[in-house]
Amino acid sequence: MMTATVKLVSRVRRLGCVLAFCFLALFLWGLPGARALDNGLAMTPTMGWLHWERFMCNVNCQEEPDSCVSEKLFLQIAEIMASDGWKDVGYEYLCIDDCWMAPERDSEGRLQADPKRFPGGIRRLANYVHSKGLKLGIYADVGNKTCAGFPGSFGYYDIDAKTFADWGVDLLKFDGCYCDSIKHLADGYKHMSLALNRTGRSIVYSCEWPLYMWPIFKPNYTEIREYCNHWRNFADVYDSWQSIRSILDWTTSNQERIVPVAGPGGWNDPDMLVIGNFGLSRDQQITQMALWAIMAAPLLMSNDLRHICLEAKALLQDKDVIAINQDPLGKQGYRLRKEDNFEVWERPLSNLAWAVAMVNLQEIGGPRSYTISVTSLGQGLACNPDCLITQLLPVKRKLGFYEWTSSLKTQVNPTGTVLLRLERAS
Ligand code: GLA
Repeated sequence: MMTATVKLVSRVRRLGCVLAFCFLALFLWGLPGARALDNGLAMTPTMGWLHWERFMCNVNCQEEPDSCVSEKLFLQIAEIMASDGWKDVGYEYLCIDDCWMAPERDSEGRLQADPKRFPGGIRRLANYVHSKGLKLGIYADVGNKTCAGFPGSFGYYDIDAKTFADWGVDLLKFDGCYCDSIKHLADGYKHMSLALNRTGRSIVYSCEWPLYMWPIFKPNYTEIREYCNHWRNFADVYDSWQSIRSILDWTTSNQERIVPVAGPGGWNDPDMLVIGNFGLSRDQQITQMALWAIMAAPLLMSNDLRHICLEAKALLQDKDVIAINQDPLGKQGYRLRKEDNFEVWERPLSNLAWAVAMVNLQEIGGPRSYTISVTSLGQGLACNPDCLITQLLPVKRKLGFYEWTSSLKTQVNPTGTVLLRLERAS
C-alpha cells in the first residue's frame, strides 16, 4: 500500500514536471528572437548571388577568362540579374567571395583588388552594380588571412570597414579562417560589426562566427544575433545531395537551439543555393528551394546565370516559394516529425497561414505516398476549423478545402519534396 502511494505521488509529480516542461517549451518557442543587430537591414532573409560554390578561387584568367574571379564575371552577372527577372523577384545583392584581393595591402594599409582581374577597382564595380538597381557584397576575414590565403583583416578592422564603405559596398561576408584564438574570433566579429556601423553606410553583415566556434564550445546565439545579420553554422555547401542532406540533418539536430533565435534582422545561414549547377537532380533542387524557404534562409545563389536551364530558373524565380522565404512574420520553420524515411517540416507565416514541406528521404524505389491528418499541422491551428491548401512544389495546384478532421495524402518522389501553403478558409 505504502509503495503504491509513493509510486502514485512520484508519477503525478513526474507528470507535473513533464507538463511544466511542455508549457515552458511552448512559451520559449513562441517568444520572438533575441535583440537583432540594430542596423535596420535584413528584415527578411537576404537574397542575391555569391560566387563561391560555382567559381571558387579560379584566378586563372588567361586560360579561363569566362570563369575566373574577375570584374568581367561580376559585370556580366549584374547585367543578367537586372535584365532576366532576378532583381524583380528579389535577388538584389551581387556578392564577391574570396580571392578578389591583391596579395598585399597598399602603402596606407588598405586592401586592394587584384589589379589585373579587377582593373577598374571595386568602387567602379559598385557604381555599375548600383546603376543596375542592385547592391554589391564583398568578402574579408576576421583572422590573419582569408581561407584562400589573401590578406586578413586582423588588426585592420576599422580601416577595412572604412574602405568598404568608401567603395560603396552594401554587404560584407566576414569569414573566420586563420584566427589564433576563440577570444580574437569573438572580439573580431564584434569589432567589425561596430566598425561597419560607425561608417554610417548601410552594410549587411554576414558572419561565420558560430561555424568556427562549434568545435570549441557552443555558440551564444543571443550575442551573435546582436552583432550579425546572418551567420553560418555548418560546413560549406557542395553541389551534391549528400551536402544538402548533411545541412538539413545538422539543422534538425540543432533546431531547438537555432530556430528560436532567427527573426527579422538576424537569420541562420545554411549556405548558398546550388540550384542550376551539376550535382542535384530536379527533385533535389526542389528540396533545396523548398527547405531554404521553410528555414527562412538567405537565398544566395551560386550558379552561372549566363548559362542556366529554364527549369532551374523557374524554380529559383518561383514567386510563391520566395514569398514563403520572405514572409514578414520572420519565423524560421522546423522539422515536425520524421517517420518511415519521410520528414515533415512546417513554418508559421503571417495571417495565420502555414507552409508545410514533406520530404521523401528514401533513395530507392519510386514516388511514395504519405498521409497526414491536418489536425497535426501548425500546432493544431493551421486547419482549425478548416483551411485551403495549395501545393506550390513540384508544381502549383490547388488541393482545395480541408476540414479539421481531414487527412491529406501526397505523393513524393525520392529525395524530392512537396511544398504546401495552408491558409484559413473562413
Ligand atoms: C570558407 C567559407 C566559404 C568560402 C571560402 C572561401 O570555406 O565557409 O563559404 O567563403 O571560405 O575561401
